[in-house]
Amino acid sequence: MPQVSATDRSDAPHAAADLRDRTVVLIGGGSGIGLRVAHRVVAAGGRVVLGGRTASRLAAAAEELGDAARWQTVDTGDAAPLAAFFDGIDRVDHLFTTAASYQVGPMRELSPADAASPFESKFWGQYHAVRLAAPKLADDGSVVLMSGAASARPAGLAPAYVACNAAIEGLGRGLAVELAPVRVNVISPGTVDGHLWSNRSDTVREAAFDQYRRESLLGRPATEDEIAHSVVYLFTNTFTTGSTLYPDGGYTLR
Ligand SMILES: NC(=O)c1ccc[n+]([C@@H]2O[C@H](COP(=O)([O-])OP(=O)(O)OC[C@H]3O[C@@H](n4cnc5c(N)ncnc54)[C@H](OP(=O)(O)O)[C@@H]3O)[C@@H](O)[C@H]2O)c1
Repeated sequence: MPQVSATDRSDAPHAAADLRDRTVVLIGGGSGIGLRVAHRVVAAGGRVVLGGRTASRLAAAAEELGDAARWQTVDTGDAAPLAAFFDGIDRVDHLFTTAASYQVGPMRELSPADAASPFESKFWGQYHAVRLAAPKLADDGSVVLMSGAASARPAGLAPAYVACNAAIEGLGRGLAVELAPVRVNVISPGTVDGHLWSNRSDTVREAAFDQYRRESLLGRPATEDEIAHSVVYLFTNTFTTGSTLYPDGGYTLR
């Protein structure tokens, strides 16, 4: 099957979406997919507020983005600082939280605490971020929750992580009902060649990427910017709510 490589297309953000005068809160926006979303938001005329635990990472990201970006350290697992983070923001037009730190592995090998870590960090972190943002969300604004395509197509041995992502997709459907007319959607990406995987060992990363080359219809992992493009679509499509979008390159069993 002929394949189009990610490098054949430009990663340059473009201003097809209009986010003028919009404030977009990106917790986890100091790196990876969140940072690519920030670039697209700024290119579309919006402002970004970046959150994360590491001041130097956030400062470097804000420097890349220019005057439209501000940042504040926050840990989504820490209730008081998370509340203080939102106290400092008057209005939220769109919220996207990639912040999460968790362990992944087989049930028979993970400790109970490690098995619970995706729920503790990725599920409850996002839940509390939305809860605190809710009073400030613009009626014509939106929330995008971060899931992962493992929810529907588990590629490795990680049942608690799989279940956590499925729970986030259910949370998105439930919050869409509670928060309407604010739109709530979920992004559920496949494997992405970017910051998250660059922090894992070469062996683990190459095994995951090779599996993705074999099992995805497009024969490669995504770029972070391809996922960011989908997130901005969910921010700006005014008739999409309660949906989960799977930018995963398609799936086949070979
Ligand atoms: N990359 C993929 O292949 C892929 C595929 C599917 C789903 N996902 C999901 O995408 C999310 C990760 O995003 P990414 O791929 O863009 O990775 P990333 O670059 O590692 O982004 C995560 C960001 O969140 C911050 N962070 C982590 N824990 C935090 C916490 N407790 N409080 C506040 N900030 C925190 C990190 O910065 P600090 O460490 O400085 O806080 C980092 O900037 C995860 O939910 C992951 O499950 C990723």
